[in-house]
Amino acid sequence: MVEGHEAVERLERLTGMLRRRGVILPAFEIHGGAKGLYDFGPVGGRLRANVQNVWRDHWLSQGDVVEVSCPTVTPFAVLEASGHVAEFSDFMTVCQACNEASRADTMLEDHHPNPDALSMADLQALLDDVRPSCPSCGASEWSPIVAENLMFDTVIGAGSSGRPAFLRPETAQGMFTTYPAIYRHFRERLPFGAMQLGRGYRNEISPRQGMIRLREFNMAELEYFIDPESDVVPDLSAWSATSVQLVPADGEAFEGTIPKALADGIILHPTVAWFMARTYDLMMSLGVHATKLRFRQHARDEMAHYALDCWDVELHGSYGWVECVGIAHRGCYDLEAHERATGQRLRAWRTYPEPKIVEIDGWTIDGAKAGPAFRALAGQVKAKVETLAADTVFPASIVLDGGDEVTVESEHVKRVQRTESVAGEWFIPHVVEPAFGIDRIIWHLLDHAYEESGAGEEMYVRMRLHPDVAPVDAAVLPLFEKEGMGALASEIHRRLCATRGVLASYDGSGSIGRRYARADEIGVPCCLTVDHTSLEDGTVTWRDRDTGEQTRMSVDDAVQRLASR
Ligand code: ATP
Ligand code: GLY
Repeated sequence: MVEGHEAVERLERLTGMLRRRGVILPAFEIHGGAKGLYDFGPVGGRLRANVQNVWRDHWLSQGDVVEVSCPTVTPFAVLEASGHVAEFSDFMTVCQACNEASRADTMLEDHHPNPDALSMADLQALLDDVRPSCPSCGASEWSPIVAENLMFDTVIGAGSSGRPAFLRPETAQGMFTTYPAIYRHFRERLPFGAMQLGRGYRNEISPRQGMIRLREFNMAELEYFIDPESDVVPDLSAWSATSVQLVPADGEAFEGTIPKALADGIILHPTVAWFMARTYDLMMSLGVHATKLRFRQHARDEMAHYALDCWDVELHGSYGWVECVGIAHRGCYDLEAHERATGQRLRAWRTYPEPKIVEIDGWTIDGAKAGPAFRALAGQVKAKVETLAADTVFPASIVLDGGDEVTVESEHVKRVQRTESVAGEWFIPHVVEPAFGIDRIIWHLLDHAYEESGAGEEMYVRMRLHPDVAPVDAAVLPLFEKEGMGALASEIHRRLCATRGVLASYDGSGSIGRRYARADEIGVPCCLTVDHTSLEDGTVTWRDRDTGEQTRMSVDDAVQRLASR
């Protein structure tokens, strides 16, 4: 919630500017718009790309992570196996006066510490008791709460051959269904990770908070596959002096280091701690303010249906503390679920330190007799018989995996007794997942960087974005467009844009002061001014956004400086 008159006005000025300058604006506005859908405009498009690139480079630098890209349209069976068809819902109630739907837990946030964790019955009781006012019309009569699935459904193909499908609610399932290819890629050795940047879709019940709750949004997720029995612990010593804010599930918030919280048993798993630490570094390199970041642990009943431990990274801004990243230990939930649904092996091989000697005592079929007796079912009979205990008495009636029931006579089977040396075993890897909401992060980068000075007509805005994410790297400004200054500035502009990794803008309209102000407002880190001296000696003035300091340098040096950062 935005609190206080001042904060509301600042928020309005910030969103107004983002819209006016083409950073973030409501989508399809000429057709009346649609709630929960936003455009990154001519300035915002590069901001988004920069944030995604910083994210990408950060995780690829780990060396054991690859990037994949999977379709957003996802067959029903995939999301049924993952549990989303049954579980991916929010509790909805509808205002009886104006028919506006609302999320019941969101409306009750001021009346319970964690309404998100309540059961449907408890939430209903609280709703009946509190009878909150409808955010749209102010009435307080509500329909009974229902669980509303958030996935957008669609059909793959046309007519009667069409298959039901959804737009994916998370990118993660793509990494699980493509696991065999990733396992092969890494030469069948854990640990490794696969990540994906892409769109996620959720038909949110009541998207009312700008970029915080969208119906189509930019996700960035990493699935890190580990052996649950491995005793290799990530090295966290680099973070032993980095103090962060931690809010444990059952205890007071405190400042402490991630390695200590792991040692004290507050963070439950070393790989979760590793991803918390690495995520902290990433947030700092994007320009998040350290004092506006905290890690909050989910209570047991608040966790997603698959999670064993989960920490959110929450950022503080105009809407209070907002979850921007979820770091979850998903156990073997997903791979096991897809294995069960498909019969495909989604496992990794673990070699024992020493081969194990195993005494085998059981049964197999006698092919010469069982083959003619069971014909097409012989394979299934063999598989089943080999699972039977040594003391099984024949004839025995058995149910095959396909559902058929057969009677196996003693002449169909042979006793197997031998000693085997077993080198290892197949197991289902566990997964630790950091899942990032790129739009929420971008919102907070803007919110943290937005700085106003002065008031009224005199108000000056400086967006102190980190240079790595700023939407434009340099603005080229001719002092005047005449006497060759405009032509030289255009040439420098073109040269900068042709330089790998650099994007410059050209601005020749209005006073130089107004042009600096326009550049500062969207966070351009430097302006290069072309004046009379530039025509004589090929130099420009480099003006720094944050300090206002001006330095004269050659065009070559300016290009070099921009290209190398
Ligand atoms: P919330 O409780 O706010 O609905 P969530 O717990 O459902 O979020 P996750 O399922 O963990 O969120 O999704 C991973 C990340 O995706 C979140 O941390 C958030 O940054 C982002 N995200 C989730 N839903 C939305 C949305 N509707 N609009 C924008 N970003 C979202
Ligand atoms: N993949 C994590 C989530 O969407 O919740």
